[in-house]
Amino acid sequence: MGFFFGLLSGWNFFWSFVELIQKNVDEAAEKLKAKGIKVLGVVCHVSNAQQRKNLIETTVQKYGKIDIVVSNAAVNPSTDSILETQESVLDKLWEINVKAAILLLKDATPHMKKGSSVILISSIGGYHPHSSMAMYGVTKTALFGLTKVLAAEMAPHTRVNCIAPGFVPTHFADFITGNQTIRKTIEDQTLLKRLGTTDDMASAVAFLASDDASYITGETLVVAGGMPSRL
Ligand SMILES: *[C@@H]1O[C@H](CO)[C@@H](O)[C@H](O)[C@H]1NC(C)=O
Repeated sequence: MGFFFGLLSGWNFFWSFVELIQKNVDEAAEKLKAKGIKVLGVVCHVSNAQQRKNLIETTVQKYGKIDIVVSNAAVNPSTDSILETQESVLDKLWEINVKAAILLLKDATPHMKKGSSVILISSIGGYHPHSSMAMYGVTKTALFGLTKVLAAEMAPHTRVNCIAPGFVPTHFADFITGNQTIRKTIEDQTLLKRLGTTDDMASAVAFLASDDASYITGETLVVAGGMPSRL
């Protein structure tokens, strides 16, 4: 009896979770539609092969081809040091932050034509992985390498670039930016004395995807208010 009950509540939880994700995607799509933007919202857990396939197929069915891929999905499930991070957590970080981006592009590439563009979202943490998000930082370092390699593999039809955002107070970063002391420390590390916004990041992505960046490929643009990164 206990077993069946556990199983049932597990499924209920699973389905409410699925409905919640669909609801979030629908709400985001509605907000964009209200601004007159044409949008198709598709739920896709990037580590799920079927959902990745569905994302690409649904998009191609509706629009005929793919012009721009922005790979933004990432997880950061641990604040442990690398040598103390469980193997399953190492796998998850690698799987979502690096491998899923590659697999999504494998599906998308056949539909990407001359003049198309890919933007990978890395992190300022990729340059100096911080101890509180060590393995996350290393996966973001990997994206710098991936940008260089994919730019060569996908040339000359497709440009591949990367942005390295600084700290943006989203739900994802709340465990850092939600703490006033830490938030102030980060603001002080920027030259512009503020955290980033999602608009700051979207603008950089829009630039890299546009024809204004038509001679830029294999590059990483740091969008971090002047935080220390690299020369
Ligand atoms: C915020 O971060 C500081 C520095 O790491 C820590 O000492 C403090 O306990 C944190 N505050 C909260 C409310 O978590």
